[in-house]
Amino acid sequence: MSEKKARLSIDGIDEPIELPVYAGSTGPDVVDVRSLVGQGVFTYDPGFVSTAACDSDITYIDGGAGVLLHRGYPIEQLAEKSNFLETCYLLLNGELPAADEREVFENTIRYHTMVDEAIHQFFRGFPRTAHPMAMLCGVVGALSAFYHDNLDIDNSEHRLLAAHRVIAKMPTLAAMCYKHGMGQPFMYPQNSMGFAENFLHMMFGTPCEEPKVSPVLAKAMDTLFLLHADHEQNASTSTVRLAGSTGTNPYACIASGIAALWGPAHGGANEAVLDMLYEIGDESRIEEFIKRAKDKDDPFRLMGFGHRVYKNYDPRATVIRGICDEVLEELGSENDPLLRIAKKLEKIALEDEYFIERKLFPNVDFYSGIILKAIGIPTSMFTVIFATGRTPGWIAHWHEMLSESYRIGRPRQLYKGYTKRDYPG
Ligand code: ACO
Repeated sequence: MSEKKARLSIDGIDEPIELPVYAGSTGPDVVDVRSLVGQGVFTYDPGFVSTAACDSDITYIDGGAGVLLHRGYPIEQLAEKSNFLETCYLLLNGELPAADEREVFENTIRYHTMVDEAIHQFFRGFPRTAHPMAMLCGVVGALSAFYHDNLDIDNSEHRLLAAHRVIAKMPTLAAMCYKHGMGQPFMYPQNSMGFAENFLHMMFGTPCEEPKVSPVLAKAMDTLFLLHADHEQNASTSTVRLAGSTGTNPYACIASGIAALWGPAHGGANEAVLDMLYEIGDESRIEEFIKRAKDKDDPFRLMGFGHRVYKNYDPRATVIRGICDEVLEELGSENDPLLRIAKKLEKIALEDEYFIERKLFPNVDFYSGIILKAIGIPTSMFTVIFATGRTPGWIAHWHEMLSESYRIGRPRQLYKGYTKRDYPG
């Protein structure tokens, strides 16, 4: 166990409290504060800025250096050499698959993409105008009704089956959210297609036409899913872990992750980037917006810039910037005015003292909205795409937590309300 110790002196407690310090395989050490409760003291860390809530082998981020590793593999290498499904396998199982394992995994996912026909009825109950995230949250939670009975969460095989089901069904459900809003028939998944290709087919195909998906766009979509696959203990993943720590079923856990992702501070930022670029409207107005972003009396922030963890270029943003050019070239929109504004904005901000001093760099959302818009995906679907990509991360963390000994997550508080008082009269 730990050799290193931290000592905490608290006024009113005679002896310093000795706390073990643990080292990870890389990254900051952690001080184990679990024994403090026995001394009648809690730690206070709103926003979990300095708190590790678990240990994990899945993903490592060094925000200062701009590094993101899944099971040790850099995200840039995975984006170049791997694909989304292989990365799903890696996150879930800890190692890249051998050729036969890859084939079995891909087939397993392929044969779980259909959803129960009764799910179609759920969609019919939603108004046409419903936000796709509202529908996604509801239908993913509803999967519990179909698969809960034969699920033993303490059985690793059952957990993996649930993981395969949810990864496979997310693109089908995501496309159904879009089709419902459009008033178009739902498209069934095609077993002959790859993961991202199938998603684009279910989004944009109709029964009136032969299936046809551009390989360039399918590859771009696959890479976008891959880049969102996991990001260690972010707000939605922590939500999935907390829900899972009660022993609830995985579909309910993923639905809670989707709900947490929906917020603009988390999954909604790529939509905000696009709104901002539209608002800027012309390269001549960039300086004006940069000035506003720096003005402390103006609530405006440069959307797609800055990150709680990355104090360097978000490595996912570098990859996405490259895909952006490929997608726009494929679609013949290289001169897209929004892309021109985005590139110039990025250049000016990266040379500006305000952004340099605060280590504010483009994050993953800066370019992803431009790609999604170019592919024809409406902004209301952006967070749904993010959720589809993040599903393997959520489910891998849930699986990892249940594979080890865990306790129900139950934070403490600093109580500042009334002390005991009597009911009047
Ligand atoms: N534009 C202008 N100034 C900024 C920006 C920005 N985008 N981001 C941070 N700052 C400034 C802050 O005003 C603050 O300045 P000060 O030190 O003079 O007060 C300083 O940089 C530090 O910012 P914090 O808000 O303390 O950083 P925090 O880690 O809490 O916030 C966040 C990170 C929420 C991402 C923030 O940078 C932001 O709002 N960015 C824009 C929204 C965005 O792109 N979100 C996507 C995040 S990625 C994701 O969720 C997948």
